[in-house]
Amino acid sequence: MTFPAVRMRRMRRDAFSRALMRENVLTTADLIMVAFVVEGEGVRQPVPSMPGVDRLSIDELLKLGEECVNLGIPALALFPSVDGSVKTEDAREAWNPQGLFQRATRALKERFPELGLIGDVALDPYTTHGQDGLIDETGYVMNEPTVEALIKMSLAQAEAGMDFVAPSDMMDGRIGAIREALEDEGYIHTRILAYSAKYASSFYGPFRDAVGSSANLGKGNKHTYQMDVGNSDEALREVELDIAEGADAVMVKPGLPYLDVVRRVKDTFGVPTFVYQVSGEYAMIKAAAQNGWLDERAVVMESLLAMKRAGADAILTYFAVDVARWLKG
Ligand code: PBG
Repeated sequence: MTFPAVRMRRMRRDAFSRALMRENVLTTADLIMVAFVVEGEGVRQPVPSMPGVDRLSIDELLKLGEECVNLGIPALALFPSVDGSVKTEDAREAWNPQGLFQRATRALKERFPELGLIGDVALDPYTTHGQDGLIDETGYVMNEPTVEALIKMSLAQAEAGMDFVAPSDMMDGRIGAIREALEDEGYIHTRILAYSAKYASSFYGPFRDAVGSSANLGKGNKHTYQMDVGNSDEALREVELDIAEGADAVMVKPGLPYLDVVRRVKDTFGVPTFVYQVSGEYAMIKAAAQNGWLDERAVVMESLLAMKRAGADAILTYFAVDVARWLKG
């Protein structure tokens, strides 16, 4: 059977039949909001390279938490932006029980126990050199000493009430080591979201401004631990290892340029697969929209639906609150 018996446009003619044949939809339940926390009170510090995103003090963060709960957004992914004065070569502030991140976690979990909280586990917001791990005298990020630090950081977050620890560092063996430590300490319900296929991407620039690590990192890069942009078989190996080591969910990052990887991961493993629409993706859309070159809302909705189509179960996005409002109508 071919044309004219087959007319693909027949089903597209009306909104009702387009709705009936739509294979994927985006819902608020797919969204994870992303936020940056800073010291202070009543503080909202705009991030210049991310128009519309502010670093929030804990009291302001609680307002965002409330908004997420009211809109039905299931979870919030939290990142710290700590003062330069607490950054050290060994990043020890990362596991300070009274540190900013742990205080923010306690405050959010106390007020909104039902709001899932996802904590970033990597040393870059806390190191004087801006790398995600501990470096040797040549500047190389050392694997095992870094994993030891990540264990301390994960336990501090679990103790504060974090629902998900999310290692974004790409060290080898860290998922298994963190899982074992959490089990040993009785945090058997603390989930691990593994940034399994995290690429050495140029789309992270605005985020590094937001957490204040770009100046520290300087001309440094993360190519010895984050994945090469040209690879996707390697992503499957990374995901396989993280699942074997005890990850509860895996992540592909960035989002839109890496949807082929999302699809391969989902098809191969069938595990909860999250994707991160990163800061650079956010900044591109905002910049184009501010220039009147793109329709922000339409492009955001299309991008996120494309992520669902690729197989993502949940999406970390700085647009989550906007999207949840748009979905509400
Ligand atoms: C670092 C980390 C990065 C992001 C999340 N965690 C940046 C990096 O690897 O340099 C990027 C997120 C974004 O760009 O929105 N551990």
